[in-house]
Amino acid sequence: MLGQLLLAASGSRLVRRCVSGFPPTRKVVGRFVAGESAQEARDVIERLRDAKLAVTVDHLGEETRDARAAEATANAYLSLLEALRPLELASRGEVSVKLSALGQRLDDRMALEHARDICAAAAAGGSTVTLDMEDHTTVDSTLAILRKLREDHPATGVAIQAYLFRSEQDCRDLAAEGSRVRLVKGAYREPASVAHQGRSAVDRAYVRCLRTLMAGNGYPMVATHDDRMIAITELLADRFGRTIGDHEFQMLYGIRTDLQEALAGAGHTVRVYVPYGDDWYGYFMRRLAERPANVAFFLRALGGK
Ligand code: FDA
Repeated sequence: MLGQLLLAASGSRLVRRCVSGFPPTRKVVGRFVAGESAQEARDVIERLRDAKLAVTVDHLGEETRDARAAEATANAYLSLLEALRPLELASRGEVSVKLSALGQRLDDRMALEHARDICAAAAAGGSTVTLDMEDHTTVDSTLAILRKLREDHPATGVAIQAYLFRSEQDCRDLAAEGSRVRLVKGAYREPASVAHQGRSAVDRAYVRCLRTLMAGNGYPMVATHDDRMIAITELLADRFGRTIGDHEFQMLYGIRTDLQEALAGAGHTVRVYVPYGDDWYGYFMRRLAERPANVAFFLRALGGK
């Protein structure tokens, strides 16, 4: 119930203004967001690299219907990739992109062109791009853009949300040689007409999607902090003869850091999703919605404790 309210608030301009403008909020935001500038993100990335963790970097920003804002986001990614080059992230670094921030709602060809530029800049630095998945109305367009991007940049990945009914079929379609699929449970408020509701139904759907990806020929990116899903991944890897290098785990910056380090210490590739930038509101509210305990943490911090 609280989670649903927070997800509803994540789309409210009024709540956005109140929460974003409140100075103590920033302290709490710092638990989930690497900073507002590329330099702050770079410091975090260096720390993660030293802890043997790979990264995928997200320049925060969501839906825009303004072509100049979309261009500014694309330029921010190009500068980010340039700034990351000296870190030699090649095999351990990539970027995550929200197509809605590149103008997908305005004109999906515009989003495609910006995404192409970002993929080309990533490839020039030996890195890759993964497309985030947003609400269900964007999935067809995102998968169509993915297909076009993969013509020139076959390593481009995509997030698939297990909670959507359609995702089992999407996983079957994508579980092929060369494809990179990041399987997530799903973080948006979706109606019962398109998505499983309730934790156990979503978890069961996640396992079905995971099985398809692990049985297939692609490169599964298992994005979860859920111990049970991680244990099931290891069982499926055994069953389908997968080795440690042909799939990876992914987690969000600031969440289950202990688990990230333990899996990396055991030899797994663990990629941390590192968001940075000043447009953190939507991302932050989704993290609060995922776990009621985060709200208590937020309120304590606001109270100065
Ligand atoms: P679940 O929510 O069941 O949590 C399992 C355990 O993890 C909890 O018991 C708790 O210990 C810990 N945990 C989870 N969330 C927490 C939080 N916010 N704070 C503190 N602890 C927490 N979604 C989407 O719709 N589109 C996308 O593109 C992406 N991209 C993405 C990339 C990566 C790398 C990750 C890890 C996740 C996403 N997500 C996403 C978010 C995803 O859909 C999902 O909401 C979260 O990962 C939480 O789900 P879990 O699988 O962790 O399970």
